[in-house]
Amino acid sequence: MRFDTVIRNGTIVTAMDTCVADVGINGEKVSAIGAQLPVENAGRVIEAAGHLVIPGGIDVHTHLDMPFGGTTSADDFQTGTIAAAFGGTTTLIDFAIQYKGQTLRQAFDTWMKKAHDKAVADYAFHCIITDLGSAQLEEMGQLIREGVTSFKLFMAYPGVFMLDDATIFRAMSQAAKYDGLICMHAENGGAIDVIEATSRAIALAEMAGAPVYIVHLSCNEALEKVREARDRGLPAYAETCPQYLYLSLENMDAPGFEGAKYVFTPPLREKWHQEKLWQGLAKDTLQVVSTDHCPFCFKEQKELGKDDFTKIPNGGPGIEHRLSLIYTGGVHGKRFSPNRFVEVVSTAPAKLFGLYPRKGTIAVGSDADLVIFDPNEEQIISAKTHHMRVDYSMFEGIQIKGVPKTVFSRGRAVIDSGKFVGRPGAGQFVRRQTYAGL
Ligand code: URP
Ligand code: ZN
Ligand code: ZN
Repeated sequence: MRFDTVIRNGTIVTAMDTCVADVGINGEKVSAIGAQLPVENAGRVIEAAGHLVIPGGIDVHTHLDMPFGGTTSADDFQTGTIAAAFGGTTTLIDFAIQYKGQTLRQAFDTWMKKAHDKAVADYAFHCIITDLGSAQLEEMGQLIREGVTSFKLFMAYPGVFMLDDATIFRAMSQAAKYDGLICMHAENGGAIDVIEATSRAIALAEMAGAPVYIVHLSCNEALEKVREARDRGLPAYAETCPQYLYLSLENMDAPGFEGAKYVFTPPLREKWHQEKLWQGLAKDTLQVVSTDHCPFCFKEQKELGKDDFTKIPNGGPGIEHRLSLIYTGGVHGKRFSPNRFVEVVSTAPAKLFGLYPRKGTIAVGSDADLVIFDPNEEQIISAKTHHMRVDYSMFEGIQIKGVPKTVFSRGRAVIDSGKFVGRPGAGQFVRRQTYAGL
């Protein structure tokens, strides 16, 4: 048998198994896994002894090229997917925003144009619904058939994105009918109280007979609500993000206007919440780590709020360091195994959002989205060395241990020994399957 590429002697880690073996790639797919695959005729042989070989990361919560707060998020689909690839993420699910008066299709078409020709790795979309008349209700089914199988609804941002309970319930019922998944921004926009919103989201979903996925969960009280729902057997899921695991309210005390770097929703919490969230990941109350990458430069963008903090565009940059931060705190921090690490950054996102088993695992026939990961290399995160198009890092100075070295997207190297070798436009839109549980 001839292979285009063989990755030799790496430690293959999936959510289920760990074994030292070779991975053979032909075209866009993994074509063999085994001991001592023949390499005589291989196009390329990569020695990966001492490294992990893991499925490409899947970031299900990013905001690239998004008009927001009087400006536009700083990374577009080119710079954002390049930074993602440096960090070992080979698929992302961004948000196509339906503005009031628009059809859902207009939102989808607009975001497809933003990504086309720019993305260096694969992408998909959730649709943010802000206006749900009977036409858009019908469109939900159409979009699901075209591979946009999840929708984000907001209980916050009054007058912009926020929906009332009746609309949320209608959207959930429709999602349940077509096996779509509702992603909920669970903060109460009238009286900012995250706990009330998480339990209300779960209650509405239970009544609608729909699964619900709580995005960017940030605090222990909301975590408890998800745990209670899951203990009752409800299909309730949640993600958290590295900022809630590593940063706290103390960051807001940074000198001068620097605290603006940490303005996002939900806000940072007291430090003690961090360990609760790590334990939530370890115990499967939380299933996913995404980034909510929503980058605004400090200069000129965050500074829009210099004289009025309500004008600070909310969001933070994180697409690049998700895998390293979770490996550092999760595996080196002895909170969970390398398999659980793979599960929360790749496999569970793939399963929940209709990408599995094409993505999210290493198996014969799955996409050759692969990361050769050095579990012992140490680096210090800095805006001076990162690849995101933003002039600061939320994680400046934090030491990581565990770094992606070579990254494949559908069989082609995008990052090769730490260098970008990909091509804008090589990334493809991925039509996702409908929700089928975890
Ligand atoms: O502050 C944040 N998270 N901005 C992005 C929009 C959102 O709510 O996810
Ligand atoms: Zn949100
Ligand atoms: Zn977001």
